[in-house]
Amino acid sequence: MPVITLTDREFSQFQRFIFDAAGIFMANGKQALVSGRLAKRLAHYQLQSYSDYLRLLESRSEPSELQMAVDLLTTNETYFFREPKHFALLRDLALEAKSRSKPLRVWSAACSSGEEPYSIAMVLADVLGEAPWELLGTDISTRMLERARCGHYPMERAAQMPPAYLKRYCLKGQGSEAGTLLIERALRNRLQLQHLNLNEPLPKVGSFDVIFLRNVMIYFSLETKRQVVARLLAQLRPGGYFLIGHSETLNDINDTVKAVAPSIYRKP
Ligand SMILES: C[S@@+](CC[C@H](N)C(=O)[O-])C[C@H]1O[C@@H](n2cnc3c(N)ncnc32)[C@H](O)[C@@H]1O
Repeated sequence: MPVITLTDREFSQFQRFIFDAAGIFMANGKQALVSGRLAKRLAHYQLQSYSDYLRLLESRSEPSELQMAVDLLTTNETYFFREPKHFALLRDLALEAKSRSKPLRVWSAACSSGEEPYSIAMVLADVLGEAPWELLGTDISTRMLERARCGHYPMERAAQMPPAYLKRYCLKGQGSEAGTLLIERALRNRLQLQHLNLNEPLPKVGSFDVIFLRNVMIYFSLETKRQVVARLLAQLRPGGYFLIGHSETLNDINDTVKAVAPSIYRKP
């Protein structure tokens, strides 16, 4: 594959593209990331420059290519039981909810390939048993949602999963699938997956007891963070919990929720 250079001008056009599409603020200096991730799309269409690819995106002659470019320019790193403190809190909330008749509703709002919502599902299934609960997982990346739907992962992603959950909710791959795990079908069926761009007005999703918005705000500009958080908090029930990544904060972003611990907020 010939090496095609990404010019500074083309890079700033991609910065604009991903900001308009997803609210993602891509810092200067990420040229290698953009060219590394998009080079195969140029090869696919046999294009000679990134400007040609930008023209193809603008022309909308290949509408699915817009989604493909968004998929490739987002960062999707995730794993099971990331930031375990949040799952300990979820367990306590599920125990409290056990006796009530309304279903406990949880939203994993940037669910990537599904490790976060399936971790949530394991805790809810374990604690709530037959009591009702609902779980929504959403992401802007259709490629990641497809992976979430499959529920098939390399075993390394489960390094922090409690062994009892691995045994109870996952099938260990055999033969050519050795080193992988498959989330059992019953649990997969409990997760509702939906394509959703947090940077746009929300579709009807209902209200939630717990919202996970973890490790996605870091990619947004301050103004986008404010808009996204306000939009999501409007869907949180009074008394509900809002969980963000450990390297994130709501300082300067929203003061309508109360910090109860680092990265854990509660709506009054
Ligand atoms: C680093 S992953 C975080 C996954 C998970 N929440 C966790 O903490 O492990 C960030 C995810 O945010 C998604 N994302 C980025 N911009 C988005 C947007 N505007 N709307 C919805 N999802 C978005 C990406 O596709 C990616 O899957």
